[in-house]
Amino acid sequence: MTYENLNIAFNNGIALVTITREKALNALNTQTMLELQHFFSTDAYNHEGLKGVILTGAGEKAFVAGADITEFKGLSASEGQALAQRGQDVFFLVERFPKPVVAAVNGFALGGGCELAMACHLRVAGEKAKFGQPEVNLGLIPGYGGTQRLIQYIGKTKATELLMTADIIGATEAHQLGLVNYVVPSGAEIEKATELIEKIASKAPVAIANIISSVNAYFAENVDGFAFEVDAFGACCHTEDFQEGATAFLEKRKAVFTGK
Ligand code: CAA
Repeated sequence: MTYENLNIAFNNGIALVTITREKALNALNTQTMLELQHFFSTDAYNHEGLKGVILTGAGEKAFVAGADITEFKGLSASEGQALAQRGQDVFFLVERFPKPVVAAVNGFALGGGCELAMACHLRVAGEKAKFGQPEVNLGLIPGYGGTQRLIQYIGKTKATELLMTADIIGATEAHQLGLVNYVVPSGAEIEKATELIEKIASKAPVAIANIISSVNAYFAENVDGFAFEVDAFGACCHTEDFQEGATAFLEKRKAVFTGK
């Protein structure tokens, strides 16, 4: 696929994915969603030696200012349902990606932008970043998982308030609420995200993939997370990296993991 709205740069095993619709504050139009879907299901998936993915937005103003509102006019109920379903499916690809995906939030993360950041495994916010779900201003509600993931991250009390008031919060408050992992000076988001991915890349890849799926299992419908963890633990025991990790500990040396 030729990417029109994503700039993808692989550097030392890390994919830096920049949404490049700066004039529209990186709003997620259909084409951008298709490109994200393609990237996470093929290019990123098949990239040998990939350590992780950083998602960010072009320019200093916005990470992503939401779904592209210009595509909303005249949307029927069934078209709206389909749009939300497609968006959720793309964001599940992000959330279920077996390598760490870190959002480097450099500005507005509103509506679908906040939802995209929440679908990532970790979030680094620049100090000028702003978060919110302002869909009720448009007569809508979030459609890309925002009503669910915001509660998962910050709890029902504050999530309900933000969803109903459309209030936009700054990076410090987002950090205090547990929505973001780190707040860094503006411009340092990618550096911090890289540092996080490098740290995670020094661990056993199969164990990391099982952390991601086990954490997701907590929130999955009809899944017993504890039973899922038992199976995931067993799957890790099956790996060469487990043998290496345990042996290295006993030999008092640093483990060298191969991902096998
Ligand atoms: N979709 C399409 N275009 C958008 C956009 C969006 N979500 N957000 C901003 N833009 C466009 C603006 O229309 C404007 O374009 P023009 O220059 O052609 O007029 C350009 O980006 C710059 O935006 P502003 O002039 O509005 O910039 P500002 O600094 O005055 O305001 C802002 C910034 C507060 C982020 C404001 O742009 C804004 O409120 N944007 C919309 C935010 C929003 O409502 N997001 C939710 C979308 S719905 C959704 O996401 C549903 C879902 O869950 C699936």
